[in-house]
Amino acid sequence: MRDPLFYRMTDYDRSLLPNEHLRTLDANAVDRKEWEATTGYSIGYPAWGMLYYTVLCRLRPDAFNLIIETGTNIGSSSIVLAQAIKDSKGSGEVRTVELEPEYSAKARDNVTKAGLRDIVRFYEGDAIEQLPEMLTGDDKVAVAFLDGSHLYQQVIREFELVEPHLDDDSVVIFDNTYLIAEPKEDQRVNGALREIKRRFGGNLINLPYCSWYTPGMALWQRQPFGDMTPPA
Ligand SMILES: C[S@@+](CC[C@H](N)C(=O)[O-])C[C@H]1O[C@@H](n2cnc3c(N)ncnc32)[C@H](O)[C@@H]1O
Repeated sequence: MRDPLFYRMTDYDRSLLPNEHLRTLDANAVDRKEWEATTGYSIGYPAWGMLYYTVLCRLRPDAFNLIIETGTNIGSSSIVLAQAIKDSKGSGEVRTVELEPEYSAKARDNVTKAGLRDIVRFYEGDAIEQLPEMLTGDDKVAVAFLDGSHLYQQVIREFELVEPHLDDDSVVIFDNTYLIAEPKEDQRVNGALREIKRRFGGNLINLPYCSWYTPGMALWQRQPFGDMTPPA
């Protein structure tokens, strides 16, 4: 593995965070030990802000907005996603999956304290097994945040399971995009994104200077202007 890089900030104005409970959790975290204890393995600031506004700008006030998250951890990013639904004034739901039951229990507690329990549905288990339960029939996903296992095959499989439920302008958000692997190691999220771009095309924007070990977040969208036919 290459050297870890950290782009999580701690000296910032907490009032910029979209939820009071998240502000409280992150209020005194100045190093890795402290933020692991309070907000878990979360993306942190400024990535929380990027996530919040990206989601808020995609949600439709006139539709049911479904958000899928893999890797709930202790609920910090679930709070950001659910707060965006609440602030959009539209309707919607976050469906989030976590492998470890103790993290999931902590996430339920945090999301409840954040006042958002009614718009988050929790699933437990491997995301690959749970995604078919989380997404059925003609469910349409407005936003997917894939942040569970960051191994190459897992990221690809999660994307494959979500992809049939995406509209042209749905947004898929990935964490940990920095190329951390050496050539012979599992190529993780960075490698998966190269393969997704090769197989599915679409638009990919990489934001390297946010989040922490491994840093970097990316946004993928199939076709932001629909079929690209210019207006008559
Ligand atoms: C980086 S943390 C997620 C952080 C969270 N999204 C946030 O920003 O607050 C990754 C989480 O994914 C979980 N995880 C790992 N492998 C998983 C899998 N196969 N299915 C579901 N969750 C998984 C881990 O237990 C861990 O809690």
